Amino acid sequence: MNQKVTMGANRKIKIMNVVAARPNFVKIAPLMAEYKKWPRIKPILVHTGQHYDIRMSKDFFDQLEIPRPDINLEIGSASHAIQTAEIMKRFEPILLKYKPDVVVVVGDVNSTLACALVSAKLGVKVAHVEAGLRSFDRRMPEEINRVLTDAISDYLFVTEASGLKNLRKEGIPHEKIYYVGNVMIDTLRRYIEKAKKMKILEELGLRKRGYALVTMHRPSNVDDPIVLRRLIDVFGKISQELPVIFPAHPRTQQNIEAFGLKRKISRMASSPDASPDGGLRVIDPIGYLDFLQLMASAKVVLTDSGGIQEETTILHVPCLTLRENTERPITVEIGSNRIVGTNPTRILEEFKKIMTTGSIRCGTPKAWDGRAAARIVEILGSTE
Ligand code: UD1
Repeated sequence: MNQKVTMGANRKIKIMNVVAARPNFVKIAPLMAEYKKWPRIKPILVHTGQHYDIRMSKDFFDQLEIPRPDINLEIGSASHAIQTAEIMKRFEPILLKYKPDVVVVVGDVNSTLACALVSAKLGVKVAHVEAGLRSFDRRMPEEINRVLTDAISDYLFVTEASGLKNLRKEGIPHEKIYYVGNVMIDTLRRYIEKAKKMKILEELGLRKRGYALVTMHRPSNVDDPIVLRRLIDVFGKISQELPVIFPAHPRTQQNIEAFGLKRKISRMASSPDASPDGGLRVIDPIGYLDFLQLMASAKVVLTDSGGIQEETTILHVPCLTLRENTERPITVEIGSNRIVGTNPTRILEEFKKIMTTGSIRCGTPKAWDGRAAARIVEILGSTE
């Protein structure tokens, strides 16, 4: 590797870590835990404040035992341009003040790109955790964030084989690329036993393998009233066979309200056609451990999230992805995930298949073994 940070043997390596949104917290947790084993490393944690609600942020810090951020940029919500620009403006002085040797960014949110760009322009090395994933759909803001972040990163930490292929095709020098596995799965493996002791099934009156779990927050699914209404109708149909639990992201909740879909949902919850155990229930976002328990015990998960496609693979729970593509093709190849889009007939067909075939058996992607963070920190920490 010739991209290592070079420094005197006695000096500490300052690693600045950026988090912003819910999935980032799950990815940074094992890195923060790993740094503690390296006296040579001084970690600094920056929260951009892109997610700020207690349930979207603080609860995750508490449950995943992430140290309090050293700095909070308190960005909040705004349009993509304003949010990205404001993060850059507020991050630059922090970088100048702390002078880290390397900045670690994770995933594909606006803060990932904004902080990578500021760092690269100031000549600070950038490490991108979860590099190389591509949906090849530039209508997704995350795809733009991924492509641009990878183009300016010095360490590209890859989770699956497709990532290696994509980065090579884009001409990224191979010595910058490291296949390390999946930090999100490190967290899952660390907390699964604790999650299984959570009481969320009892609290919601659910039986193991007796319900469907839904999550949805992508603009393409929730910002268009026609698409959102169509998907809610599909969940209504599914709820005639199984209770459907839908912890809804604030963006989704706001749109359910704005598009006048609230009444429709409460009618579904109490409909005589609803499954005897429940119907469709939209609830507030929930913490990591409760959600992990809900995923692990579901009959099927329907989602437009990226991370949940991966988590269900490890949990061996069938996942129907409510999108036309995925940047995580390994989950489809291995057999836990199906890309079903938003066409009701297609979704219901695949749902019926799962109801008749029962649970699935699938393998484990290479190096999704709970040691991805250890590999990353070993690379970042082994600097001269
Ligand atoms: C962001 C990421 C997305 C990621 C998702 C995980 C980008 C481009 N998108 O999308 O990749 O999958 O996080 O959840 O960075 N809101 C609150 N409270 C919060 C956070 C958000 O009420 O704590 C509401 C606000 O009204 C906001 C909306 O949700 O306008 C969207 O939030 P934003 O951070 O812009 O994007 P996400 O949809 O969360």
